[in-house]
Amino acid sequence: MNPPRHSSAPNASSRKLLQIDTARLYRDGVGAEGVTTNELDELAPELRRIHQTVLEKSRGGIDAEFASLNLHAVMPDSLASIEAMAAQLRRFEDVIVIGIGGSSLGAKAVHHAMMAVRPDPAAPTLHFLENIDSYRLHALLQNRQAEKTGVICISKSGGTVETAIQYLILRDWLEKELGKDKARAHQWLVTDPAHGWLRELAGRENLPSLPVPPMVGGRFSVLTAVGLLPLAAAGVDVRTLLAGAADSAARCVTEDIHANPALEIAALFYLLDVHKNKRVSIMMPYADPLELMGDWYRQLWAESLGKRMEARPGRPPAGTLPVRAMGAVDQHSQLQMYLESRLDKIFTFLTLDSWERDFSIPLPEESRKQFPYLAGKKMSQVLEAEFQATRQVITETGHPNMTLRLPALDEHVIGQLIDLYQRVTVYAGLLYGINPLDQPAVEKGKKLAIQLLSGDRPA
Ligand code: PA5
Repeated sequence: MNPPRHSSAPNASSRKLLQIDTARLYRDGVGAEGVTTNELDELAPELRRIHQTVLEKSRGGIDAEFASLNLHAVMPDSLASIEAMAAQLRRFEDVIVIGIGGSSLGAKAVHHAMMAVRPDPAAPTLHFLENIDSYRLHALLQNRQAEKTGVICISKSGGTVETAIQYLILRDWLEKELGKDKARAHQWLVTDPAHGWLRELAGRENLPSLPVPPMVGGRFSVLTAVGLLPLAAAGVDVRTLLAGAADSAARCVTEDIHANPALEIAALFYLLDVHKNKRVSIMMPYADPLELMGDWYRQLWAESLGKRMEARPGRPPAGTLPVRAMGAVDQHSQLQMYLESRLDKIFTFLTLDSWERDFSIPLPEESRKQFPYLAGKKMSQVLEAEFQATRQVITETGHPNMTLRLPALDEHVIGQLIDLYQRVTVYAGLLYGINPLDQPAVEKGKKLAIQLLSGDRPA
């Protein structure tokens, strides 16, 4: 068995903080489409109020209404049991992680980022099964040996149909290949501590399981066992991930927007929507390892904020449409539209300060004439130049934009990013006057699909 890699949380001197540059969201930085100091001043009493609400609703640790904002502080207590299970999973060559939406996207994004930088050769390969797709499942099983495969099934409700059917198929496969008793030693469940089909199954069959804290919703759960178990199994340093989240939380304790980046970002994005008609929020990482952070953000933002503002009748529905783009590829695909179509967008660029892996560009004499500007350059320098150029033209076009510069690509920085966005989302929800933690329309769809399958309604 290969124990997970542990590292103690980084000490103060090695803690590199995410650099958050909001200057181009303001009128001074981007021109008429940016937020004015007046608009921000007018919102100040409301910002004080929502900050107080966050403080009040975060009281009570894991039982608080906003428990998702306390995970950096409470989850370290559960790490021993999570890491013990992760150690068991590390005897496998492959681990299939079944889950959908909030029960998958966070772990998938962090895994994608960290494997690019620091794959753990002693760790199993994770395969995330999210969508129901027979081709994908067939291809996955065709090349797998049950003996060497573990399965983690993750569902907070414990009954999401996409997750349940894939788990049923995989259980069946394990049982046919290994026999019922042996198959049990290949399964782990992460679900509600008391309710649901998976929880009952865990009890009935004595399957190893971990709880999803009841007050933490799917899209806010990457820093619970939902994300930490598969990530620890894959060799991601989950202690440092939580330490990063704690450092972000520590930056967001005051009601002063100039000293609380989450509150400032929420305020600016809210004002840009309601005063400046910015209806599209584009996250554009300039680093492939961060690509799936865009998918995680898309769900967090859309499911939390895309709601009717019942508290404010007469106002249009809340929420800017989150979109993921990629630098530099989308310069060759989307940029034309960004520069000449509507001014209805806000951009968030994610960039890396240092690249642990880089290439010097070999420039033979015969190519020098064609690319004289590449002489002596590294690949990362070219990407940085492309980012700077894109940001400049986006700014000159008048699109408000923000840059999050990652000082390194590691667990500590990714942990900060996760905590920051979870906070921004909660603050933004409160500004819109909606509940950022529910998803009534998603539940509607789930129920209707079940009715259709049951024949209660014609499909
Ligand atoms: O964020 C959410 O609440 C949803 O995206 C859920 O995570 C998703 O629907 C899966 O639900 P469950 O974890 O109950 O299977």
